[in-house]
Amino acid sequence: MPRVQEKAKILETHREAEGIHRLVFYAPRIVPTARPGQFVMIRVASEGSDPLLARPFSFHRLHKEDGLFEILLRVVGTGTRILSQRPAGSVLDVVGPLGRGFSLPSGPHETVAFVAGGIGIAPLWALLDELTAKTHRNRTEQLHVFYGARTRAELVPLTPLKRLGVHLVVSTDDGSSGEAGTVLEALRRRYEGGSGLPDRLYACGSLPMQVSLARWVSGRNLSVEMSLESMMACGIGACLGCALPAVNPDDPQAERYVHVCQDGPVFDPRRIRWDKIQPIMARPLTFASL
Ligand SMILES: Cc1cc2nc3c(=O)[nH]c(=O)nc-3n(C[C@H](O)[C@H](O)[C@H](O)COP(=O)(O)OP(=O)(O)OC[C@H]3O[C@@H](n4cnc5c(N)ncnc54)[C@H](O)[C@@H]3O)c2cc1C
Ligand code: FES
Repeated sequence: MPRVQEKAKILETHREAEGIHRLVFYAPRIVPTARPGQFVMIRVASEGSDPLLARPFSFHRLHKEDGLFEILLRVVGTGTRILSQRPAGSVLDVVGPLGRGFSLPSGPHETVAFVAGGIGIAPLWALLDELTAKTHRNRTEQLHVFYGARTRAELVPLTPLKRLGVHLVVSTDDGSSGEAGTVLEALRRRYEGGSGLPDRLYACGSLPMQVSLARWVSGRNLSVEMSLESMMACGIGACLGCALPAVNPDDPQAERYVHVCQDGPVFDPRRIRWDKIQPIMARPLTFASL
């Protein structure tokens, strides 16, 4: 995929939920080849100021005909705080599209589940847009979306999701909206009550959610793709800072490293050595809901 560096203009900013903001960028050179699941590196401040590094964000929505992309960002530190305060009209350095995105279902007959924990709804929405677009309309009935957050105030507005016509199950850990409990509990209730598993599952969420979901899907017969996070300095395979231990397909006893920025961020979670990365990633997570 061609990668482009572009001065992208922020056209709109919206506060969507507590600590969560949506920004609309005009980037007519990046958008045409962008795919759901891919991401951009955004330099949040001008050179010489803090933070110098660019920060990775998934495409939340793509509007190809207008050259626009949206990001949904959760404020966790300096970079995301600065970005959330950038007014419309700001011009920022953006590089993208980066990484490997989601693959598509093989046909309209497939049933698909989406599992989004907190800000993990961000990359899944772009895929939902694609699968519910006119060309795929007949699929809508087959799409089941499980979206959970810690509490009602952290849920992004649900009306646009409902308008897509998908089956939507909302959950909050504290029971303030939708089903009480984690999004994974909602998923288990749906599929362990005797009804059939989906053919395909897409997920994005916190590390605890990723680990539990990887355990739940292991040994089950369905295609799974999960968008993973890692600390990223460059986003283009140059710094090796985003490496995660993975299964070596040639020797299951041995391990190899995958780079989230180039081999991912979308992976089959059964490829990742979760037992090896939990201690490494014992730090605050952005895609937190669980
Ligand atoms: C491929 C990819 C796609 C992403 N997409 C989105 C998105 O769509 N929306 C969104 O809100 N965020 C997304 N993120 C996470 C986002 O990039 C980080 O929240 C951001 O870089 C934090 O920058 P900061 O300067 O605010 O925080 P910092 O000040 O750099 O860090 C604040 C705290 O967060 C921790 N942290 C920072 N980055 C990460 C990370 N990637 N994983 C775990 N912990 C981290 C740090 O260790 C520190 O404790 C994505 C990350 C990746 C790798
Ligand atoms: S972020 Fe630098 S190699 Fe992946």
